[in-house]
This record gives sequence, C-alpha cells and structure tokens, in this order.
Amino acid sequence: MKELLQNVYKRRSVRRYSEQKLTDEELAKVEEYLHELKPLIADIKVEFQIVPCSETNCKFNAEYCLLVYSEEKNLWLTNVGYMLEQWDLYLTSLNIGVCWYGMGKVEDERQCDLEYAIMLSFGKCDPSLFRNGDYDFNRVQANDFWKGMTDARLGEIVRLAPSAVNSQPWRVEQADNKLNVYRQKGKVPILSNQLFKHWNKVDMGIFLCFLDIALENEGYTYTRTLGSESDEGKRVLIAEYVLDAK
Ligand SMILES: Cc1cc2nc3c(=O)[nH]c(=O)nc-3n(C[C@H](O)[C@H](O)[C@H](O)COP(=O)(O)O)c2cc1C
Repeated sequence: MKELLQNVYKRRSVRRYSEQKLTDEELAKVEEYLHELKPLIADIKVEFQIVPCSETNCKFNAEYCLLVYSEEKNLWLTNVGYMLEQWDLYLTSLNIGVCWYGMGKVEDERQCDLEYAIMLSFGKCDPSLFRNGDYDFNRVQANDFWKGMTDARLGEIVRLAPSAVNSQPWRVEQADNKLNVYRQKGKVPILSNQLFKHWNKVDMGIFLCFLDIALENEGYTYTRTLGSESDEGKRVLIAEYVLDAK
C-alpha cells in the first residue's frame, strides 16, 4: 500500500464531473483494482457493482457509482472503509474523481446474503480539482487526536484521511511502541444517529488505511490486533498496534 502515499496529498472528494467518459481501458483498470484491494479482515466477503450514476439516488453528475455489499460481521464497515479507500487513492492516481456517498440508497439492501454498505461516485473530472500537496486540507492537527505521538511524520499523513461530514472521529493513544486507535462517538444535529454511526465505522477503516500507508512509508513493521464494532461507551477501541523496534 506504500505506493499509494503520493495520492494522499492529491485526493479530494470530487462532486463535479466532466462530460468526458472513461475509456474502456480505464474502466478495466478500475474494475481490476477491486480484486487487488487488501482487506483488513480476510474472511469477510465483499462484493461490488458498478452501475450508471443516473440509476442511483446520487445527486452528482458522475458517470458511475460503485455499490459495495458485504457480509455483516464484526468490523464489516471498517473493513469496507479500509478496502475502498485504497480504491479511492488508486483512482486518484489515474486522475479519476471519486466521492464517498453516504447518502446513497439502494432498492435492495440485501443481495445474496450480503448487506449494502455504501456507494462511491466516480468519473472523469478536471484534473485541476485535485490537490497539489498537504496544504488546502480542512483538518484538525494531529496532536488534537493523537496523544503521546513520538513520530510527527505519521501524524502528518493520517490527519489527511477523509471522513463523513469531515467528522474525523478517530483518536489515538500512544504509550511507547503501542498505539490504541479509538472511534470517538459524536452526533451531528441534522443526521440520524444510526446513519452517522454507520458512516463513522467506515471512516475508521479509512483511517486505518492511511495509518498503514504511513507506517509502511516510515519503515515501521507492526502487529495489529483488532477490537470490536460494539456501541458501548463514549469511545470504542478499534485496533491496537504494537510497533517493532526499528
Ligand atoms: C463515509 C463517508 C461518507 C460520505 N458521504 C458523503 C455524502 O453523502 N455526500 C457528500 O457530498 N460527501 C460525502 N463524503 C465526503 C466528505 O464530506 C469528505 O470526505 C470530507 O468533507 C473531507 O473532504 P475531502 O474528501 O475533500 O478531503 C463522505 C465521506 C465519507 C468518508
């Protein structure tokens, strides 16, 4: 996943698409990459469908939407976030615009025993929409969500992760070589709690994807133990990382 780092500084949510269509070759690459995504949890079945955006409730003028379906197991939405963020970054490398679309709805929420998780719009866009570096990001500082940070370079990368309504629900507590990653529960007045919780679980997977890219790029190896998707308490332990000595 290391190779995705440069796209971390380039990606943004693309909500305005061009009239131009993806070429057959581009579409083939986009589909092939779906089979290369690294799962967070290997035994959760995930399937994808690419449909014309006009056949969904997505309000953007994108050419397509990707519908994501998954088995409903512990951390299934976090797994979806982890996988599809790699796809978001890969499409960015091809100058194809993407936007996570939590407001998406499908007629059949269940398909062949899999549950609808989320959709992402994608299509050609003006390449000038992408970012050119680590400025121009509306994000909190890494110290605001990461206590005890010993390597600021990691914080500078992970703070750029996208999240639903830019809520940035992640918290990290570090003690020496041990990192605990939490989902902080919150509310958005205009949204149902259920919907927001659903999105924030996806956000945590996106964050872990950024964290793994950051750790790999900074030369860390680690052992990761996953937590749960329980809704108990004010914050939920999602993962524990133990970093090996460098
Ligand atoms: C799980 C998830 C759901 C999202 N849902 C929507 C959505 O329904 N509509 C929308 O316009 N943007 C949506 N976004 C995009 C976020 O608003 C966006 O990622 C965030 O504001 C940060 O901006 P950036 O992606 O341009 O860096 C979603 C993002 C995530 C991660």
